[in-house]
Amino acid sequence: IEKKEMLYEGKAKQVYVTEDASKVIVYFKDDATAFNGKKKSQIEGKGKVNNHLSSLIYTYLEGKGVKTHFIQRLSDREMLVKAVTIIPLEIIVRNVAAGSMTRQLGVKEGTVLKKPIVEYSLKKDELGDPFVNEDHIIALEWATEEELNKIRSEALTINKLLIELFSKAGLKLIDFKLEFGVNKDGVLLADEISPDTCRLWETRTGRVMDKDRFRKDMGQVSEHYEEVLERVSKVLAV
Ligand code: C5P
Repeated sequence: IEKKEMLYEGKAKQVYVTEDASKVIVYFKDDATAFNGKKKSQIEGKGKVNNHLSSLIYTYLEGKGVKTHFIQRLSDREMLVKAVTIIPLEIIVRNVAAGSMTRQLGVKEGTVLKKPIVEYSLKKDELGDPFVNEDHIIALEWATEEELNKIRSEALTINKLLIELFSKAGLKLIDFKLEFGVNKDGVLLADEISPDTCRLWETRTGRVMDKDRFRKDMGQVSEHYEEVLERVSKVLAV
């Protein structure tokens, strides 16, 4: 399949048109940003790790009945996916308090939540991705009520499946971000699932294995991303 012109460039990925209007190619860059783009750098090899890991995870989720945009991994940095219209929301699922939740609500980092929390924010850099609730989403027509119900139930299902997968890899899933898209078949999980979009702590030691290493200048960022990939690969290989 041939990669044609670039359709879109985001902070960590590029999207290219192909000769088939129903498919696009996602290219994973090494660029990393944090704090709404205020901190910028490169994490060497990150694009490759995130492409490989997301491909493995999407294949795993598809096998468990989750509909995703994933078709196949084409190369180290390229993935073939179904073309979708992205719903302009970040869907965040939390199992343990960390990150913005600790800052906004004064909850202690590491507090285990009695039940998972699903949060929504509007994808809009200029506004700093503000929090929105289900009424905003429907009233402002970012998604229909039917789509939103599907998104919420899929997010919780994906949470269960990811907790199970990562726990077999010796990792605790603290929180993560999802994006969904729509095509003729309905709502599909889109974007990526990687250490850029998940908080993962080593179960045994609490060691941070995700993008917080970049956000907080903890060092050895790519080494930790690679370790997450290796661990998950091992789990899925058996
Ligand atoms: O920053 P916050 O604590 O709200 O992030 C919750 C989760 O969502 C984290 O795993 C973070 O990496 C992810 N996230 C993301 N992209 C964003 C915002 C958050 O992947 N724009």
